[in-house]
Amino acid sequence: MKLSSVVAVAGLLAATEAAPSSQHVLLERSSSKPPNFLFILTDDQDLQLNSPAYTPKILNRIKEKGVDFTNHFVTTALCCPSRVSLWTGKQAHNTNVTDVSPPWGGYPKFVAQGFNEDWFPVWMQNAGYDTYYTGKMMNAHSVDTYNSPFIKGFNGSDFLLDPYTYSYYNSTYQRNHDEPKSYAGQYTTDVITEKGLGFLNDALEGDRPFFLTVAPIAPHSNIDPAVSMSDGPTIMEAPISAPRHEHLFKDVKVPRTANFNPANRTGVSWVNNLALQNQTVVDYEDHFYRQRLRALQSVDEMVDRLIDRLEESGEIDNTYIIYSADNGFHIGQHRMPPGKATGYEEDIRVPFFIRGPGIPEGKSIDSVTTHIDLAPTFFELAGIPLRKDFDGTPMAIAHKSASIKHEHVAVEFWGTAVLEGIYARLGPDGATHAPNNSYKSARILGHGYNLYYAVWCTGEHELYDLSTDPYQINNIYPFHNGTKAQKFLGRPLPTVLNRLDALVLVLQSCQGNTCIEPWHVLHPDGSVKSLRDALSPKYDRFYLEQPKVEYEECLDGHIISNEGPQVGYQYRHGLSWEAWT
Ligand SMILES: *[C@@H]1O[C@H](CO)[C@@H](O)[C@H](O)[C@H]1NC(C)=O
Ligand SMILES: *[C@@H]1O[C@H](CO)[C@@H](O)[C@H](O)[C@H]1NC(C)=O
Ligand SMILES: *[C@@H]1O[C@H](CO)[C@@H](O)[C@H](O)[C@H]1NC(C)=O
Ligand SMILES: *[C@@H]1O[C@H](CO)[C@@H](O)[C@H](O)[C@H]1NC(C)=O
Ligand SMILES: *[C@@H]1O[C@H](CO)[C@@H](O)[C@H](O)[C@H]1NC(C)=O
Ligand SMILES: *[C@@H]1O[C@H](CO)[C@@H](O)[C@H](O)[C@H]1NC(C)=O
Ligand SMILES: *[C@@H]1O[C@H](CO)[C@@H](O)[C@H](O)[C@H]1NC(C)=O
Repeated sequence: MKLSSVVAVAGLLAATEAAPSSQHVLLERSSSKPPNFLFILTDDQDLQLNSPAYTPKILNRIKEKGVDFTNHFVTTALCCPSRVSLWTGKQAHNTNVTDVSPPWGGYPKFVAQGFNEDWFPVWMQNAGYDTYYTGKMMNAHSVDTYNSPFIKGFNGSDFLLDPYTYSYYNSTYQRNHDEPKSYAGQYTTDVITEKGLGFLNDALEGDRPFFLTVAPIAPHSNIDPAVSMSDGPTIMEAPISAPRHEHLFKDVKVPRTANFNPANRTGVSWVNNLALQNQTVVDYEDHFYRQRLRALQSVDEMVDRLIDRLEESGEIDNTYIIYSADNGFHIGQHRMPPGKATGYEEDIRVPFFIRGPGIPEGKSIDSVTTHIDLAPTFFELAGIPLRKDFDGTPMAIAHKSASIKHEHVAVEFWGTAVLEGIYARLGPDGATHAPNNSYKSARILGHGYNLYYAVWCTGEHELYDLSTDPYQINNIYPFHNGTKAQKFLGRPLPTVLNRLDALVLVLQSCQGNTCIEPWHVLHPDGSVKSLRDALSPKYDRFYLEQPKVEYEECLDGHIISNEGPQVGYQYRHGLSWEAWT
């Protein structure tokens, strides 16, 4: 880096206007042009089952050249809600896009909620960026809905459309305002690689900085469009690789962690009713896992080619390259057939690697971060002032970041869990959707604790201490397993649970800053900033009297009147407490 050309950049301000002492100075970069972004967003890619280890080019060219966020989570483990949250910077309870299809979610719901005019790509264009996208945007964005209206905010787009989105060999893409075009017989990831390279060329030719997203469907399950258009159940089969990768990984199996097809039942609700899987099913799951790894090989090649192109262009040093997935995935853990939609680690943890100007090489950061933090993070890196209605905060990448560290993740879900694979059947009627899958929970990682607490629509609860039980086998919610509550963090377990419940009570309806600093709602004087602070015995009565998080019944959508008390108390110096609104 030439010293003379090192200037502090504050967004789109001319370099000379940005005084180095300004609070808005985020990074020192070698160019005065705002940075470009290349975001690779895969579909249903796990972190916990170790899939990134099988993509060496992605590891070498992104992770090892930048920062690996090792505690990065999604807040709703399902494609459409998670993507809408990512591209709006809002929790699903604030987007109310909570499912993959209407009435609760999907593209029509996204449009009905007004987001098509007011979301990330539109904001980036307004801030001076050229925006490009190819691949899957969201569910129910289909051959019937794609033009009513067209997706807004992109200078160039080429979207996969339902019901062909998940067909590895029979995809349909739809470019800009053109008619949908079938790519029957072509391998979807190879098609998207060419489209991604094409948009990268377009982007590099422009005068403005660019934000290009390439969102392949790998390693999502394959869905035959003919099957999804029929009246029968949608069968989600193992993904399909390109022929050149079919021979790989013959001996690889799903990691046999303690929660893989466990001898004892685990979890609550439908998970707790699952039968032990027989060898036929376990063998199929190993095959399913290998197919995912094989399907990811084409993504690995795609990333390699995109980065080659960036290197040739000379723009690589002014480009952030980000790799992540919309949600995680499980295969056989807790006896579950392949799928997502739960709050367990496999489903909520995803890879998050970022390299680019000012980002150190080969570093791991273990602060808790979420997909809700991504829009604020991209804004900060681009030097765009943060929006007040962001439910997240920039990730602490840059050393003068406005990041507010948080120890919690607000995990939420409404509706059913889709079961994938050919053995995905529940009960005598052969259902492919597990009902009663609505829950609100908090994943919390602080100094001396590592917990997951969930309240389910069935009235059941879960509490896992991941410091001793990383695979979430032993639900220690008091009396759940017939044992008496023990001490935890030096306090009786029920007093800890009162705090966790109050945290979820705040998070279930949080907006903007209250999602980032939830304890501040309960303690407006700022004296409590963490679970540890809240555990002080002087707050025992306060937390005992808080209303408890609950549901009337299990419903498929976000209906406030079904979701119990919404308002709790604020602490007022031990004298009295008042409702927080
Ligand atoms: C991209 O779109 C924005 C918004 O319509 C526009 O201002 C900008 O000029 C476009 N860029 C190019 C290269 O056409
Ligand atoms: C692609 O899907 C359509 C709709 O189901 C079907 O008519 C067509 O035969 C399929 N083509 C291939 C090559 O599978
Ligand atoms: C399964 O549960 C039984 C009875 O509660 C217990 O004795 C056994 O240790 C458990 N097995 C495992 C692997 O946790
Ligand atoms: C194993 O379980 C699957 C799914 O329940 C069932 O379809 C299959 O018949 C079983 N196989 C054997 C050998 O029991
Ligand atoms: C769903 O939960 C209700 C209680 O809310 C229960 O009565 C019902 O049996 C559950 N259904 C299944 C399939 O677990
Ligand atoms: C119940 O939970 C307690 C607390 O973690 C644990 O010590 C005990 O082994 C569990 N009992 C069974 C039967 O799983
Ligand atoms: C979310 O959307 C559903 C379906 O339109 C609606 O019934 C519900 O009231 C909405 N919830 C909130 C909190 O706006």
